[in-house]
Amino acid sequence: MMGIKKIQLNNGMKMPEIGYGVFRVEEGNALEEAVVTAIRSGYRSIDTAAIYGNEKSVGTGIRHAIEEGIVTREDLFVTSKLWNDNLSYEETIKEYEQTLEKMGLDYLDLYLIHWPGKNKYLEPWKALELLYKEGRVKSIGVSNFQVHHLEDLLNNTEITPVINQIEFHPKLTQEQVRDFCREHNIQVEAWSPLMNAELLNNVTVLEIAADHRKSAAQIILRWDLQHGVITIPKSMTPSRIKENINLYDFSLTDEEMARLDALNSNLRSGPHPDEFDF
Ligand SMILES: NC(=O)c1ccc[n+]([C@@H]2O[C@H](COP(=O)([O-])OP(=O)(O)OC[C@H]3O[C@@H](n4cnc5c(N)ncnc54)[C@H](OP(=O)(O)O)[C@@H]3O)[C@@H](O)[C@H]2O)c1
Repeated sequence: MMGIKKIQLNNGMKMPEIGYGVFRVEEGNALEEAVVTAIRSGYRSIDTAAIYGNEKSVGTGIRHAIEEGIVTREDLFVTSKLWNDNLSYEETIKEYEQTLEKMGLDYLDLYLIHWPGKNKYLEPWKALELLYKEGRVKSIGVSNFQVHHLEDLLNNTEITPVINQIEFHPKLTQEQVRDFCREHNIQVEAWSPLMNAELLNNVTVLEIAADHRKSAAQIILRWDLQHGVITIPKSMTPSRIKENINLYDFSLTDEEMARLDALNSNLRSGPHPDEFDF
């Protein structure tokens, strides 16, 4: 199997362009096994968050895959996120330490501020900068940041985030945020790339899928990659876990990309970052 391509981030780190998401999955054996299945299938990037309540199982799965000799820790790109609930500088450092402890890991490859909240991110970001400078985390980024949050962060702190992880799919194409990120060399990463499976019955997606003899999920994920957006589909189904990284034997034409882009209706499946107070 061809390995998953990597994208160089603004600090020189390389991140796989497809990763494995684990939102809405409980702790337990099933998740541990799914993480091992994903790694065995070729995933090298895994995305969790403190608020998912499953960092322990994700970490156990990762350590099993390493113990089984499928990968080394250095082969993997592990992301978790800070639940930014009015945290001070010191509390932020403690949250990171707790995440590492739960996962049984010495470091994360990427630590994200999960939501901007109402002006809640500057102090935590300064704590993330310290963790980064001390080499305790390989890279730091944000999630759900609008242009005005990014401008505020860039104007008031030192380090530019490597990533902005945002809701992104053909119904929500986020032109403004993507343009801003491109201008500032911040890599965009898509969450809920399949709109939590809601887009898999879309007629346009299904037509393009039939033409390529690919699944609807593969068409949308390929659209992410051709937009230069890192994607992290979630699945607990082994056949889909494999299907979702099998994206390198076809490509979408400019016309197909444009048809998918035209589905945009600024429709969110999750909260709006300016209205969600976390
Ligand atoms: N930063 C944030 O605020 C934020 C918010 C939401 C999500 N995320 C991240 O983004 C990841 C992905 O988003 P998501 O979990 O919300 O949704 P998603 O990846 O858009 O969709 C997941 C759903 O699609 C199904 N599915 C996956 N592949 C499929 C395929 N090939 N064919 C048919 N169905 C398929 C899954 O079913 P099965 O599992 O049953 O196979 C699941 O129900 C999350 O896991 C999380 O890591 C981040």
